[in-house]
Amino acid sequence: MSLPPDIRISGNGQFSDHERAAVYRVIFERRDVRRNFLRKPIADDVLARVLTAAHHAGSVGFMQPWDFVVIRQRATKQAVKQLFQKTNEQAAMRYEGARAALYRSLKLEGIEEAPVNIGVTCSRQRGGSHVLGRSTVRDTDLYSTCCAIQNLWLAARAEGIGVGWVSILDHGALKRALGIPRPVKVLAYLCLGYVSDFASQPELETAGWRARIPVEELIHYESWGIKVRGNRRNGDAHYEGLYKNRGRGKNKASRGTTGVEGQSTSRGLRHPR
Ligand SMILES: Cc1cc2nc3c(=O)[nH]c(=O)nc-3n(C[C@H](O)[C@H](O)[C@H](O)COP(=O)(O)O)c2cc1C
Repeated sequence: MSLPPDIRISGNGQFSDHERAAVYRVIFERRDVRRNFLRKPIADDVLARVLTAAHHAGSVGFMQPWDFVVIRQRATKQAVKQLFQKTNEQAAMRYEGARAALYRSLKLEGIEEAPVNIGVTCSRQRGGSHVLGRSTVRDTDLYSTCCAIQNLWLAARAEGIGVGWVSILDHGALKRALGIPRPVKVLAYLCLGYVSDFASQPELETAGWRARIPVEELIHYESWGIKVRGNRRNGDAHYEGLYKNRGRGKNKASRGTTGVEGQSTSRGLRHPR
């Protein structure tokens, strides 16, 4: 797998400020994309990079349960689009009045416009019946595959490629359309392509469907429902310096610069909430 010439992996374990900013930037500028696809094809080596990024996700017991079905043929896209239309019609019936009208106005897929579609699957038997970790929580193979999809999404964004996740599909019918064997679960159907621009906020937010929840509302301290951070001098072992970070310096939070809850990671970066 070849990296672009301007990307060097130094291997010294550190990220420069510029690299760190790029990681946050790709996270905050990732979008679910359903429109504005360009006709520019995705070159094989670029797609290989994106898929390799997906393949480097964490997975339970390192089982790597994913496969990627890369679709470029129009006939396959048309077949999947028909599946979407049928399921989306059923989904629209769940809403009434203004909400139903708003739902019908949303564009929720870019199947035919996107030059590449990818079906992402999870082989639930890969690695045998006892996979480290998965034996305790059966669905961790599904979680792992979602991690791979997120990697793909972020790598694609860094390449200037938009990705749209289409979940409004009958997965049984989708599996038949893509020839996916019975024991393999289809997890995602993704539409990929270069786009003329990336929106600055989720399309559903722009359309007035739903707004982003302030992150503070989702953080609990020590126990569910406790929204006020306790006195960190009282019981935070890292803060009090009780844990030593062998050879890599002590926790610096007490010096007011960085640390487990230090602010330095966000300095100079614009973080949407
Ligand atoms: C599991 C999953 C399924 C999704 N399914 C659809 C879908 O069927 N159609 C669609 O338009 N967007 C779909 N999305 C995209 C979400 O609507 C989108 O992520 C969300 O509105 C936030 O926007 P953003 O991704 O641009 O930040 C899906 C996203 C996820 C994670």
